[in-house]
Amino acid sequence: NLAMALRDVEQQFDISTDKLKEITKQMLWEYSKGLSELPTDETRDTFVPMIPSYLQHVPHGNEKGTYLALDLGGTNLRVCEVELLGDSKWRMKQQKYKVSDALKVGEVTALFDYIAGSVDHFLTEIGTSATEDEKLHLGFTFSFPVLQTALAAGTLINWTKGFECKNAIGKDVVQLLQDALDRKHIHVRCSALVNDTCGTLMAAAYERGDCLCGGIFGTGTNGAYVESIDKLTKMGYQEAELEQNRKNGLDKMVVNTEWGAFDNERITLPFTIFDSRVDRISINPRKQAFEKMISGMYLGEVTRNVLLHLVDSQVLFKGYSSRALNAHYGLDTAIMSALESPSDKSAADASSAIRQVLTKELDLSASLIDEADCLAAARVSEIVGTRGCRLSATAIAATVIQTGGDAKEWDSSKKLVFGLDGSLVEFYPRFEQRVRDALREILGEEVEKRVEIVLAKDGSGVGAALCAQAAQAMEQKGA
Ligand code: BG6
Ligand code: GLC
Repeated sequence: NLAMALRDVEQQFDISTDKLKEITKQMLWEYSKGLSELPTDETRDTFVPMIPSYLQHVPHGNEKGTYLALDLGGTNLRVCEVELLGDSKWRMKQQKYKVSDALKVGEVTALFDYIAGSVDHFLTEIGTSATEDEKLHLGFTFSFPVLQTALAAGTLINWTKGFECKNAIGKDVVQLLQDALDRKHIHVRCSALVNDTCGTLMAAAYERGDCLCGGIFGTGTNGAYVESIDKLTKMGYQEAELEQNRKNGLDKMVVNTEWGAFDNERITLPFTIFDSRVDRISINPRKQAFEKMISGMYLGEVTRNVLLHLVDSQVLFKGYSSRALNAHYGLDTAIMSALESPSDKSAADASSAIRQVLTKELDLSASLIDEADCLAAARVSEIVGTRGCRLSATAIAATVIQTGGDAKEWDSSKKLVFGLDGSLVEFYPRFEQRVRDALREILGEEVEKRVEIVLAKDGSGVGAALCAQAAQAMEQKGA
């Protein structure tokens, strides 16, 4: 019956405290491999890439200037104009643009022409308050794995999150953007390239004066944190260089972990049959294993597969499905938020709200749904979502341990600041609470309390502007 089938699902998605600790340990092992080894063709997918960002300063809040920022890789393409006002304050004008499914898998030049067109549209329709000189600089947040070779150069390693444009892998994405801007005679110069996690970190540091890690829990998931360059041994610094860097205060670097790619080898993550199904029909099978259990692009799809299993077991919706429930990616993660939000209501009120969601969003016929079905659908969503939050906590915990945040001696006025952004952080019910519960299990209450989570909404746009500012400052120094 339904109760028994649900219990079985619960068991499959349950992660004990010991398992959380084991996963955190394995994550730390991959961190250390990624910091010390350059991947070869054989080892590429066996540990997280830990990409050096070339960002060696986090902002303090006194930076000023007006910059353009472009943001590709989240729910929307955004073009922004960011005014850094100093004093940790900023103002932003922004416009969102939709990237069609066709553009996501077409020729890469078509995608970049569309992006350049959006910049053009922004400049003509929204306008800029910057002087000619200032508006030349653009920071590009490109939220995919890129092998960065300088602050304004980097080649695409692989696509993630449903993008699969042709003729892009191995190309310098700054060059692709610049060529597209030049083709349209738009007088804008792309002077910095950043991952959204690095941008979020920079923005949170600007606002807070300090930040240890920028994390995204949205369409995809990833984190960037401040690492000491001594540990980035794959960069091959000699002892003399390290010494010089220490003297110049350049002994740290922001590292883009690309933790979404954790455990592609399936050593520790608790794969269920539903995860394997989601992976198999995805655009990138056997890649982004961690991301597929956590992030907004996939959580709904895992939930959909579990619901279908209950339907096929004849214990849910009288054994009937619907066109929406049958469709790949037919259950958006936003629907999970809607299913779970009535948790504080009485059972009867909750089930009538859930019934609305099931009939309106999932096209299920009302006659198929009784109260038990409503509560079961919400429970499945909660089970899948809670596992995602608990796994998210392992990445945060690993970053705390990696940076020595779990040290016994601790100045209690010091906080470990995590600037987070993305649709799950913003909209998924009780996201932070669920993450914190698991963090406490992994790290213990004393260490968990050192972690401060701040919502850095739309932070990567500000971060990209800060990187453009840093690039401009460096250029002026050199001049
Ligand atoms: C946005 C950031 O706020 O959040 C993007 O500006 C980021 O850079 C995005 O990629 C992540 O969230 P989502 O849910 O849109 O993927
Ligand atoms: C994916 C991308 C990564 C990005 C993350 C969040 O994991 O590979 O670069 O930071 O999504 O948007």
